[in-house]
Amino acid sequence: MKEKIEKLKKQLIDALKTAKSDEIVRNLEVDFLGRKGKFNDIMKSLKDMSDDMKKTVGRLANEVKTELEVAVQKKYAQLEAEELGQIADTEWLDVTVPGIRPIVGHRHLISKFIDDIELIFGKMGFSVADGPDIETEHYCFNQLNIPPDHPARDMQDTFWVKNLDKTVLRTQTSPVQVRFMEAHEPPVRIISLGKTFRKDNDATHSPMFHQCEGLMVGENVSMANLKAILTHFMQQVFEDSSIKTRFRISFFPFVEPGLEVDCTCPICHGEGKIENVPCKLCKQTGWLEIGGAGMVHPKVLENVGYDSKKYTGFAFGMGLDRMVMIKYRINHLRLFFENDLRFIEQF
Ligand code: DAH
Repeated sequence: MKEKIEKLKKQLIDALKTAKSDEIVRNLEVDFLGRKGKFNDIMKSLKDMSDDMKKTVGRLANEVKTELEVAVQKKYAQLEAEELGQIADTEWLDVTVPGIRPIVGHRHLISKFIDDIELIFGKMGFSVADGPDIETEHYCFNQLNIPPDHPARDMQDTFWVKNLDKTVLRTQTSPVQVRFMEAHEPPVRIISLGKTFRKDNDATHSPMFHQCEGLMVGENVSMANLKAILTHFMQQVFEDSSIKTRFRISFFPFVEPGLEVDCTCPICHGEGKIENVPCKLCKQTGWLEIGGAGMVHPKVLENVGYDSKKYTGFAFGMGLDRMVMIKYRINHLRLFFENDLRFIEQF
């Protein structure tokens, strides 16, 4: 019996030596050491032996079995190590190779321009107010003294929101004036920048565009303040202290009087031409239209509960995209929104 055990041991050790895969080792393990394996056959045969034999053979069989179990585990470990070694040989890593720099993006030109504007007005004591892009007719039009038959409400102009009664994508940032005044007592000095929407689409109009709204209300706020603030703003934003502003009479229902705001052309400096070449941007006029403005209509002040006898104020609204186009000499509005990296990366 002893020889039989030693023979089994040798057989398994030899087989393990040449085994090349986990699967082969596993089969050997089952065959020799498993519940129905060769060693268990020996254990079963113990019951027919004398007590003495049972003891010696039993002990030997157990010792050899444990020894072989260790050998099997070692073989598994050896195969695993070999496998890892092969992977390491084919997929080695050279830690001295220079790294690949990840591509880092940056904020969009319009977003950066919004920051610039907030900074310029911030230095003049204006804080930034926000309002929703989806606005009620009440704030977008009614409270701003825009009557129901005003063309700005026309289906050609305004995106009405389906299934939501009297709700629009805001056509202007002016409703933020109303929202802010309803929630705050005068004096008020705010700007509000953001997206606005109209049913327009051509080289200089996009259905989504950006506006900057301004509002200053208090005692003795005058049009002179409006002119000073907007002139300073234009000079700062175009980085040109020679810029002048001009106001022309106009109409907006929420201001009285209403004004168009022009500034001298930052390209030809108001000359209408550059070295005798006609300036294309201002069409030789020397002036550019930048936005609308005016003194806040008493009705709007009263709509929000302000005493229109005590308080006066001015408001203005400017198109941001056009200002960015002028400042950075960009000739097509759609470039802002096409997400072409060749364009975006330039700024
Ligand atoms: N909201 C006007 C527009 O989109 C622009 C505007 C004009 C805003 C006069 C004002 C203002 O605050 O006083 O055309």
